[in-house]
Amino acid sequence: MTTKFFEKSRKERIDEIVKFAKLDPEERKILEGHGGIGFEQADKMVENAIGTFSFPLGIATNFVINNKEYLVPMVIEEPSVIAAASKAAKIAKIHGGFSMKNDESYSIGQIQIINVNPKDATQKILSHSKEILDLANTKSNTLSKMGKGARELSCKEISTPAGTMLIMELLIDVGDAMGANVTNTMCEGIASLVEKISGGKVLLRILSNYSTRRLVSGSAIFDKEELGGEQIVDNIILAYQFADNDEYRAVTHNKGILNGIIAAANATGQDTRAIEAAAHAYAAKSGKYRSLTQWSKNSQGDLVGKIELPMSVGLVGGIINVHPTAKVCAKILQINTASELACVLVAVGLAQNLSAIRALASEGIQKGHMKLHARNIAAAAGAEPEQIDSIAEKMVQEGKISINRARELVGS
Ligand code: MEV
Repeated sequence: MTTKFFEKSRKERIDEIVKFAKLDPEERKILEGHGGIGFEQADKMVENAIGTFSFPLGIATNFVINNKEYLVPMVIEEPSVIAAASKAAKIAKIHGGFSMKNDESYSIGQIQIINVNPKDATQKILSHSKEILDLANTKSNTLSKMGKGARELSCKEISTPAGTMLIMELLIDVGDAMGANVTNTMCEGIASLVEKISGGKVLLRILSNYSTRRLVSGSAIFDKEELGGEQIVDNIILAYQFADNDEYRAVTHNKGILNGIIAAANATGQDTRAIEAAAHAYAAKSGKYRSLTQWSKNSQGDLVGKIELPMSVGLVGGIINVHPTAKVCAKILQINTASELACVLVAVGLAQNLSAIRALASEGIQKGHMKLHARNIAAAAGAEPEQIDSIAEKMVQEGKISINRARELVGS
């Protein structure tokens, strides 16, 4: 029998990754190193830098997304997350894995216009759409060369205690970029023209992180037997109903989804704050904060999970181009486009949610956490690889997980 990924040594795990992703010796060295950037790079990234700060990088296994196999790098400090994602992906694989889709990668730029009659200004702006879009497109050679760029504009009025204002929105096809910089550049670059056309004053010119034109949706079927039977399937659906109808539970439920998404986004150097802000806003799109996933049962009694949320990620520009480990992680994923990366992240979110609510609707999450914690303690006490599981199990059974007890068991 082949050794499972989690049972392998670090070297064996890296060997497998190198083979899977065809990493070159230089890339292997990056994985074997301390996993990051040096002070020189850090000092160029932020102000007042004094050092760097590292986190664990692990690999979630078993993912099949749109019929392609993935090993998913995840950067996270919380135990159980990577194991839980891998377990859910393994169950999803039985019925073909995750089917995901992402139609467009349009970034939204907002321009706030004050001191205008909104109706007149809207008409004027819309009748000069082409001129405004053309000017916006002169602001990015990179996007233009890729056949991407500003595509549409629209106007909306908002009522505020400070009076009505007009908000112009610029829709930009950013392709494989996350697009924050180019969106802000375009918005700033067209502001004077918008003032001239509208007769008003432009105040804010900035990207919206509520990226509803970059939605990713998808689903997976989870086999009822593998989940532990029909009763557990029913309980998972009840757990979902709890989340979908109570904000206090929904926030925690969605946090579980983001455990997976953010860990995989971190590994590839994405702007995780943008992802989280958009996810929470999308969860509240109906006016009430709800679950980002939906769970139901199919005619065979298997569990069907669905997910949809905005996902703005990039493969060009940004940290992914400068952080050596993020680059290697993108290579491990073998992704070709930002859209594919977005699909992977959302599939991981669905998997993560399944594992959390399956555990919560059955044995609870502490058992799994304790087992993992006990394994770590056993390893720290010097247990040989073949001793770790039995020592961990014994400590969990005894309800006494401590380094001293682990040392006694190692010596016995
Ligand atoms: C813990 O990080 C995440 C969970 O609380 C998610 C959930 O409750 O669904 C287990």
